Amino acid sequence: MTTPAADPAANLARYLEAQSQKTLLRFITCGSVDDGKSTLIGRLLYESSVVLEDQLAALATDSRKVGSRGAELDFALLVDGLAAEREQGITIDVAYRYFATARRKFIVADTPGHEQYTRNMATGASTAELAVILVDARKGVLTQTRRHSYLCALLGIKRIVLAINKMDLVGYQQERARAIEDEYREFAALLGVGEIRVIPLSAALGDNVVAAGGNMPWYQGPTLLGHLESVDIAVDDGAAPFRFPVQWVNRPNSDFRGFAGLVASGRIATGQAVRIAPSGRESTIERIVTATGDLREAVAGQSVTLTLASDVDVSRGDIITTREAPLECADQFEATLIWMHEEPMLQGRQYLLKLGAQTLLATVMPLKYRVNVDTLEHEAAERLELNDIGVCELQFDRVTGFEPYTANRALGGFILMDRLTNDTVGAGLLHFALRRSQNIHWQALEIDRRVRAAQKGQRGCVLWLTGLSGAGKSTIANLIDKRLVALGRHTYLLDGDNVRHGLNKDLGFTPQDRVENIRRVAEVARLMAEAGLITLVSFISPFRSERRMARELMGEGEFFEVHVDAPLAAAEARDPKGLYKKARRGELSNFTGIDSPYEAPEHPEIHIDTTALTPEQAAERIVEHIARAGVLAPAPRAG
Ligand code: ADX
Repeated sequence: MTTPAADPAANLARYLEAQSQKTLLRFITCGSVDDGKSTLIGRLLYESSVVLEDQLAALATDSRKVGSRGAELDFALLVDGLAAEREQGITIDVAYRYFATARRKFIVADTPGHEQYTRNMATGASTAELAVILVDARKGVLTQTRRHSYLCALLGIKRIVLAINKMDLVGYQQERARAIEDEYREFAALLGVGEIRVIPLSAALGDNVVAAGGNMPWYQGPTLLGHLESVDIAVDDGAAPFRFPVQWVNRPNSDFRGFAGLVASGRIATGQAVRIAPSGRESTIERIVTATGDLREAVAGQSVTLTLASDVDVSRGDIITTREAPLECADQFEATLIWMHEEPMLQGRQYLLKLGAQTLLATVMPLKYRVNVDTLEHEAAERLELNDIGVCELQFDRVTGFEPYTANRALGGFILMDRLTNDTVGAGLLHFALRRSQNIHWQALEIDRRVRAAQKGQRGCVLWLTGLSGAGKSTIANLIDKRLVALGRHTYLLDGDNVRHGLNKDLGFTPQDRVENIRRVAEVARLMAEAGLITLVSFISPFRSERRMARELMGEGEFFEVHVDAPLAAAEARDPKGLYKKARRGELSNFTGIDSPYEAPEHPEIHIDTTALTPEQAAERIVEHIARAGVLAPAPRAG
């Protein structure tokens, strides 16, 4: 410590200057509480003297009260105590701690080791340059160790420290450390991690954490902190191509139109020619605006507002690049998915996908394989469960600019959210665009849907009947069909039982099969409506998410959701096919209403209470409804 200079202001300035000269290392710690993670982080924080005085006082009291180490300080309490405040309904449970030594500044992402760790780890790891993976010297390399290492490698962490903790509990034996190291290196070789440093230590007693200690004379390497302070970290010097995802369009008045965001990589200067992805439009950078004045140049990591010399169309989620290094744009990809939710990932379901500054819809089609994290083998799978990792093909609802995750974490890493609850359900990494999407173009059809509908004197639409098995959907749909045909209308009826004998005969009744069943039927219904037909769909269609997808395939006013509502008891009492009885006897599994859910519509266009109406009355009411909506009359001529 230097003695404080007389001038505190100058002193402070010098201090801040020294801080700003230091490099910053972001790292993540992986392991469970049992591995001693909290103790290790606590000791790092403590010995680099950043623990606040009052926290220390509390720690001393707590340790005496509840600590596991007698009168000594229990560092685990320090970290776990801080954890309490973040355990309040925050989806992503990552604590970032800051500390500094004379040589370097650190941000450590501490992710708890509970079941949902993939979510937290993926968050913490996505910005980290190094991972400290803890193993307990007594237990060695576990499945969890492999899974954490795999995730770290996947998320682009090139430096790993294998911290073999609790060496004191194995008598500081070199053989034990070496056996663990050998096993780990063999596995890690498959991952292609750049650098692995193995450090035997004792977080509880302090050996090799900050100071070497004399218990492991056979170990010649650096202490953990010594390694963290000296490990080489590459800084983005701006050599990567310029990538600027537009966070929002700033238009305070008609004179100013700027695009605000964070420079994800590279650098840009005023006067440079730029290109917008995915539109491909070009312009020139006019100004680089910040809160503290205009800049000549901006580099990776800076938040700025760019203005362009010409009035080109740029919206939130677009990506600005230089003209010389444009982005690839696509809507179909191969990607790795890391599943983070108790509800499994279902092929064919649409999820919200956040990539860069944009949110779009993505469908998994298909899942190619699941990764066995112990062996890294690929296993056939139809779904991903909590903490599973798999590789899939993804279909986006629109073309977007992107980069493979390995080239750019910001433009190749994404999260997936449930469409109805907005819960984060997964994260993923884009590998590459699928060529096939670039070779399939929309064929412009000269006879369009208007012409087809006009020829029939009606408007194409979809009447979607949903409800429990035995609710009366098919009966009512048949009656509607007969009425419409009698009125001279052109219709078609798609019925679950029938379609499942043909187009969908490969599908059963698991959730993922039902999702695919409805996806196909929705697409077919759309085609039929485009052909100008009044299309009746009679499927249980138990999930809101897929009914919503079907709705969104259609234009405004062309989709009528009809809830054929019968209480389970009533449907079961009718049991026209004897299936409820079978399900109750346990001879039929995944039966809707019994052991598979039915999510009733929240805002159907038409609600039919089958306990109050006869099928004839229901059909009449539905036909009246669509007549009022104008479906039975020709559309007004355009123009
Ligand atoms: S959906 O859930 O995927 O929309 P769909 O309407 O195609 O179901 O098929 C439902 C019909 O399949 C039912 O009317 C019933 O006759 C038959 N079925 C056979 N097994 C089941 C099951 N486990 N759950 C529901 N329906 C079943």
